[in-house]
Amino acid sequence: MAIFKTKNSAETESVGEMLGGSVKDGTVVAMFGDLGAGKTAFTRGFAKGMGIRCDVSSPTFALVNE
Ligand SMILES: Nc1ncnc2c1ncn2[C@@H]1O[C@H](COP(=O)(O)OP(=O)(O)OP(=O)(O)O)[C@@H](O)[C@H]1O
Ligand SMILES: [Mg+2]
Repeated sequence: MAIFKTKNSAETESVGEMLGGSVKDGTVVAMFGDLGAGKTAFTRGFAKGMGIRCDVSSPTFALVNE
């Protein structure tokens, strides 16, 4: 198991980007964390690493999300 410790949102995004760039097609990633833990920051980077070009938004408290 690998553990990454980050000090801010940008660092968390960078870790996400690195990991997102190394997953194989079809991989399923399950993620959990407390409110404000940095899930969306991580996912923004992860999507970028996968080459996905779109806004990443948080589902938390949202009434409508595209
Ligand atoms: N190491 C860190 N990694 C990510 N975010 C951090 C970190 N330290 C502080 N923050 C701050 O914490 C907040 C994390 O927000 P983010 O939306 O990514 O969390 P979340 O887990 O998606 O929250 P929610 O459960 O509300 O959807 C941001 O305001 C960010 O600036
Ligand atoms: Mg979120």
